[in-house]
Amino acid sequence: MRRLMAIAFMLMRVTNISASFVRQRPSRHVRKLETTLRMRSDDAPLQGKTCLVTGSSGGIGKGIAHRFAEAGADVIVHYHSRKSGAIKTFSEINDEPYEGRCIGIIRADFRDARQVKEMFRCVLDEILLGNRLDILVNNAGIVTKMAIEDDDESLSSWHETMAVNLHAPLQLMRLSHMHMKSTQVNGRKGGVIINNTSIHGSRSVEYMQAYAASKAALDSLTRGLACEYAEGGIRVNAIAPGVVPVERTEEAFADPNVVDMWTPHLPVGRLGKVDDIADATLMLATNEWMSGSIVTVDGGMTGRANMPFRPRPARQSAPEVNGSSEGSTVEFEVPLI
Ligand SMILES: NC(=O)c1ccc[n+]([C@@H]2O[C@H](COP(=O)([O-])OP(=O)(O)OC[C@H]3O[C@@H](n4cnc5c(N)ncnc54)[C@H](OP(=O)(O)O)[C@@H]3O)[C@@H](O)[C@H]2O)c1
Repeated sequence: MRRLMAIAFMLMRVTNISASFVRQRPSRHVRKLETTLRMRSDDAPLQGKTCLVTGSSGGIGKGIAHRFAEAGADVIVHYHSRKSGAIKTFSEINDEPYEGRCIGIIRADFRDARQVKEMFRCVLDEILLGNRLDILVNNAGIVTKMAIEDDDESLSSWHETMAVNLHAPLQLMRLSHMHMKSTQVNGRKGGVIINNTSIHGSRSVEYMQAYAASKAALDSLTRGLACEYAEGGIRVNAIAPGVVPVERTEEAFADPNVVDMWTPHLPVGRLGKVDDIADATLMLATNEWMSGSIVTVDGGMTGRANMPFRPRPARQSAPEVNGSSEGSTVEFEVPLI
């Protein structure tokens, strides 16, 4: 009953106004788990930390939110249009026997810089309530596919892509940095920022120039801000995924021909999974010697040059040693002592 009331409360509070939020006490179920089923702290590397994952209403962001909660973090979910997806992430995390939990849901449209600012204020003042933010995962993004000449005269699509994929993450990094460097709670200081970029940040294909440029710029900011923010004890890294089917691409990948088209280009022999990306993101959150890194997770796709596939050359016979190719021993010019 309490759980139903909590969800009803959430549905009432998550509205379509600029930046809205929901703060939740952990359900009775979760509180019980906290006392009875807690994972060992050794297994929960993010125990006691808080984390905001933007764009966690589905796809990769949802996978990261799950993984971080599993690792002990208190997670805040952000969404733009998929309210039901955000609530699902929230409920699933709080239903699992994680040491962490989902402590809030917040909505903001990153095309509007004012909403980004207001969202961050709500996260600190209305959800964290004096606690600090330890980890920011800039995951939200839009995948724009368009020939440059098909954009309108004001380059609306270009600007929208930059606003969501580059300007909002930059604004959130800036706000997080100011907060993290100046806020200590229970000895927790510094912080971690992880940007979800893409292999398109370093590789070019047709009709994805706005997307690729936004991700390349975010890669560059990741490296640069890792230097600038180091003094405040804040590490900045990026994950650059390859092809990972998510709800957004469900229809396309339902066609086996599409899967067959991609698979030969993936040396590991399969498309990515959300968990592949979540695992690598957790590694970036926990490895304290990593900063300024762009970690490619793409099944080996970009490691291979874009050359035609070549047949395996015929095996050469083993070179002869001392006149015999089998059972020969090496003879030393200098006698062994
Ligand atoms: N999947 C891949 O193959 C792949 C590969 C490389 C990189 N990536 C990157 O991974 C990230 C997640 O993408 P995904 O593939 O998991 O797709 P997705 O499920 O569509 O995730 C995109 C997220 O961004 C949010 N978002 C979209 N427009 C927004 C806006 N105007 N304001 C605020 N948030 C907005 C969405 O929120 P709502 O759904 O609530 O609107 C959603 O949660 C993106 O940055 C993407 O570039 C994905």
